[in-house]
Amino acid sequence: MAAPEIRKIGVVGLGSMGAGIAQLAIEAGYETIGREVTRELGQQARERISHFLQRKVDKDRTSATARKAALDRLSITTDLADLADCDLVIEAIVEDLEAKLALFSDLERVVSADAILATNTSALSVTEIAAAVGDPTRVVGMHFFNPAPLMPLVEIVRAQLSSDEAVESAYAVGERFGKHPVRCHDTPGFVVNRVLIPLLNDCLRVLDEAHVSPEELDTAMTAGAGWPMGPCTLVDLVGIDVHVLASEALYEKLREPRMAPPPRIVAMKNAGLLGRKSGRGFYSYE
Ligand code: 3HC
Repeated sequence: MAAPEIRKIGVVGLGSMGAGIAQLAIEAGYETIGREVTRELGQQARERISHFLQRKVDKDRTSATARKAALDRLSITTDLADLADCDLVIEAIVEDLEAKLALFSDLERVVSADAILATNTSALSVTEIAAAVGDPTRVVGMHFFNPAPLMPLVEIVRAQLSSDEAVESAYAVGERFGKHPVRCHDTPGFVVNRVLIPLLNDCLRVLDEAHVSPEELDTAMTAGAGWPMGPCTLVDLVGIDVHVLASEALYEKLREPRMAPPPRIVAMKNAGLLGRKSGRGFYSYE
């Protein structure tokens, strides 16, 4: 497969990560189409992006003209077939292997033969996701960090059968997004989550072991370890559900007890306390 020139980017799933990735793409000058399952969710994502770009204008970090030009590059659809002319599609849907396999299989039928398919999975195997398509050489991981427009890293994940061209194209897009791309292989959790997920789980276990409140734990880790935000604030930001699913995926692969999600946050997930996005997690956002 020849490395295609990336002119148009598709983003599937416009939750907080997908919307952040779409924001990066339009700010980097790419024609971008985002796909959500309903018009309402698509509209919410557009409003979110529009809001954050307006905040950048308010703070003189971009101009009103650049904001409008970026928003004009964004279209939203509910129909996957509208991604037919994308050179790169970045998937940011729910962390569920079956859902991702079904999507990649559908995507391959829609896009051209040399389009690259990337997954933003946190902890699933990119190689397993790539098995859904006839040409797995075109599949790579592009793992962004929450909040995607602010966090400088993107992990460019080489799956077992990824082509050099697909890896290098994804790397170049990461650079044009203004990120620090890091190439890595498809191992459980890649680089950051391999370290961060068990560390966050340790932090959450300390809540009960040391009898501290979320506020006290957050203060301890910001004031005592220099973290930019405390672990409870961070898990609320990432999403309790996302963190539980990523922990379970890592535990399934590595069988290390520290990877397993503490029962306390599994219970929070089951109760719908998902963090910022649901209005309540360790903290209340209402
Ligand atoms: N999208 C776009 N823009 C956003 C945003 C978002 N989601 N969230 C905030 N912003 C914009 C806002 O406009 C905000 O300004 P405003 O409040 O005046 O409108 C502006 O960014 C700056 O935000 P802050 O004032 O909150 O910026 P801070 O200086 O406090 O830094 C931070 C914020 C960069 C998030 C910092 O707290 C940080 O580095 N936290 C750690 C985050 C982290 O560790 N992320 C990784 C999580 S792990 C992960 O994602 C992996 C996954 O697989 C689970």
